[in-house]
Amino acid sequence: MSVARAEADGGRDSWSAAESAVLAESVHCAPSVHNTRPWELALHGRTAELRERTVLAAQHDPEGRDRRISLGAALANLALAIRGLGWAAEAATGSADDLVTATVVGTRRSRPTDAENRRRRVLADRRSHRHSFDRRELPDGIRDALLDALAAPGVTGRWISGPDEALAVARLLDYAARVFRDNAEYQRDLTLWATPRGSGVRPDAFGAEGLAAVGLTTSRTRLPDESLLADRIQREAVLVIATSADTPQDHVRAGAAMEQAWLEAASRDLAASVMTQPLHLEEVRTGLAQRLGLTAVPQMLMRFGLPVEPEVGDR
Ligand SMILES: Cc1cc2nc3c(=O)[nH]c(=O)nc-3n(C[C@H](O)[C@H](O)[C@H](O)COP(=O)(O)O)c2cc1C
Repeated sequence: MSVARAEADGGRDSWSAAESAVLAESVHCAPSVHNTRPWELALHGRTAELRERTVLAAQHDPEGRDRRISLGAALANLALAIRGLGWAAEAATGSADDLVTATVVGTRRSRPTDAENRRRRVLADRRSHRHSFDRRELPDGIRDALLDALAAPGVTGRWISGPDEALAVARLLDYAARVFRDNAEYQRDLTLWATPRGSGVRPDAFGAEGLAAVGLTTSRTRLPDESLLADRIQREAVLVIATSADTPQDHVRAGAAMEQAWLEAASRDLAASVMTQPLHLEEVRTGLAQRLGLTAVPQMLMRFGLPVEPEVGDR
């Protein structure tokens, strides 16, 4: 660090205790698979490093795709927090012992942009919204703004549009649901998505225990009707995030892009949620790419909408 810069920073060449707390909090807020936060954060000098951490539930995610997408989300938050502290943030990914690492270095003093400030301010407020959305249309321009937010080298966003695409996606989700019939959590997500409010089904009946208790995971499970799901997909804003290749680094990139779009949405009072499980199946990834005419590899589906306040019985 140059003398002038060190002086501007009170002579310090490393994160202060207060800055370290801001950085730690930023990654703590990141969305992660099953909220497992599968990373370790190490701070040294003006560097912040995330290391992939293997966690339980490997059966759900045998290839570690969700772990690395989660790490990418934490990386996006970390970079935004570093920008918020007034540093240019240079990010790089690597690997050690077959696990992904990602570093962000605060290289020089630099003011955050308005978009960075807007997204950083909602880091702690972003939440997964798993229920159906308000039926109102999204405000004009939102879809383009979300695509802009996630834009990054090697990452593409693609909205599902029209009845044919919605039905194709519904069919692939239905196929995945049959494959994952034994996975209670996946069934719960899909059912919540396709179950309209006021249907008399209490969302809290879909906890892991509740699901088994109401028999939804048995071989007689009634999966959401394909056309109902297609209708829901068509009415909602459903986004596919895809990457140019399918390496561990691509999963990290996809996760960072997901988080940028999610924060942009949150900054505009929109709600969102993410679904990755169906795309753990290679045939679903390739099927989706084919039907959407994508040359990139689909990594996740995100849905965006206007939130509905929870009904009394849902709390
Ligand atoms: C890679 C990844 C996969 C996820 N998969 C699902 C999912 O299939 N279903 C779901 O409801 N939430 C999913 N989530 C959301 C997490 O459960 C959620 O981020 C976490 O529990 C923290 O809650 P929050 O997002 O409300 O802060 C996923 C998140 C990530 C990062």
